[in-house]
Amino acid sequence: MNYYEKSKKTLEAIKDRRDYTILAIESSCDETAVAVTRGRTVLSSVISSQIEIHRRFGGVVPEIASRNHVLAIGNIVEEALAGAKLTLEGIDVVAVTYGPGLLGALLVGVSYAKALAFASGKPLIPIDHIKGHMAANYIASPELQPPYLCLLASGGHTAILKVNSFADIVTLGSTQDDAAGEAFDKVARVLGLPYPGGPEIEKLAKEGLPTYALPRAFKEKSYDFSFSGLKTAIINLVENSRARGEEIRRADLARSFQDEVADLLVGKTLAAAAEYNLSTVALAGGVGANGALRERLALQGAKAGLRILLPPRALCTDNAAMIGVAAYEEIACGALPAELTLDADPEL
Ligand code: KG4
Ligand code: ZN
Repeated sequence: MNYYEKSKKTLEAIKDRRDYTILAIESSCDETAVAVTRGRTVLSSVISSQIEIHRRFGGVVPEIASRNHVLAIGNIVEEALAGAKLTLEGIDVVAVTYGPGLLGALLVGVSYAKALAFASGKPLIPIDHIKGHMAANYIASPELQPPYLCLLASGGHTAILKVNSFADIVTLGSTQDDAAGEAFDKVARVLGLPYPGGPEIEKLAKEGLPTYALPRAFKEKSYDFSFSGLKTAIINLVENSRARGEEIRRADLARSFQDEVADLLVGKTLAAAAEYNLSTVALAGGVGANGALRERLALQGAKAGLRILLPPRALCTDNAAMIGVAAYEEIACGALPAELTLDADPEL
C-alpha cells in the first residue's frame, strides 16, 4: 500500500473518534506556530513571533519571514511535542496551513509537514488559514455546533460567513478592498504608530473621544464591506492638517476610526444574524482581539437575544492550535488526506 492509500485508511479508521492526536503547523505570516491537539482540546501550543524583527521595517518583509520560519520550525515542533509530553510516535495526524498567506512563509510549513508526515507514515491534512481562525471558536466553546454565523476579521480577510457545517460555509459578504486588519495597520502607519497597527490603535484610542466625523465605510444593502474610503479619508485628513500646520488629535482620530470599524462590522453581522435567523454569532481573526469590537458585539448581540462567542484574544491572532482543531473538524466531515504533491497556495 502506498503512502496515500495508507493515509486514507488511517483517516477512515479514526474519522468518528475523538481521542487521536494531531500535530499542527502554521507559518502563513510572521508567526511560526506548532500545536498538539486532541479533538477540540489543546495539549500544547507554541508560538514564535517575529514581530520584533519586522517592526523596524514597518511591516512584514516576506523574505525575512521565510528565513526565520526555517530557523525556528524544528525547535518549535520539538517544544510543542515536549509540551504535550509526546514524541512523534504518539501523533496520529499532521496538519498544516497551506494558504492563504505569504508564499515563501507557507512553503516552510508545508515542506516541513510533508517531510514529517511522509517519513512517519501519517496522514497529512491541508488547512485553509481562514477555516483555522473559525476553529478557534471550537476550542473556546467545545459544545459549539453549526449552524451559526461567523464574523471573520483578520489582516487579510473580512467576511460574514454562514456556517452550515465545517464543510459547508457560505460567504454572505466580504470586503471589496482592504481587510479590516489591513485598514488598522495602514491607519496606524499614518498616525506614526509601529507595526502591527491594530493593538497600537486600540491603546491610543483608549485616551481619545470619537470627535472626528468620518465617512461611513458602508456598502448599502449588502453584507459586503469597503474600508479603503475610510482609510483614504484619514490619510487626507492627516495630510491636509499637516499642510496647514494644524495639530492632529491622534487619540481622537484613532478612537473615531476604531468606533467606525466596530460599528460597521457589528451592524452588518447582527443584520445577517436576523435575516438568516441564526441565534449564535462567533468572532474570529486577529481584529477579533480588539476590545472595542468585542464589547460592542457582546453588548448589541445580547440586546438582540443572540449568543455571542468571543474566543480569548490569544486564539484570535495566529496560532497553530486553531489549525489542529480545524483538521479535526475536517476529518469528522470526511476530509481526504493531502497527496505529497501538496503545494502552498498563497491566494487560497
Ligand atoms: O488573523 P491575524 O493574526 O493574521 C491574518 O490572518 O491576517 O490578523 C492580524 C491582523 C493585523 O492587521 C493586526 O493589526 C490585527 O489583526 N489586530 C488587531 C488587534 N490585534 C491584532 N486589530 C485591532 N485591534 C487589535 N487589538
Ligand atoms: Zn491569521
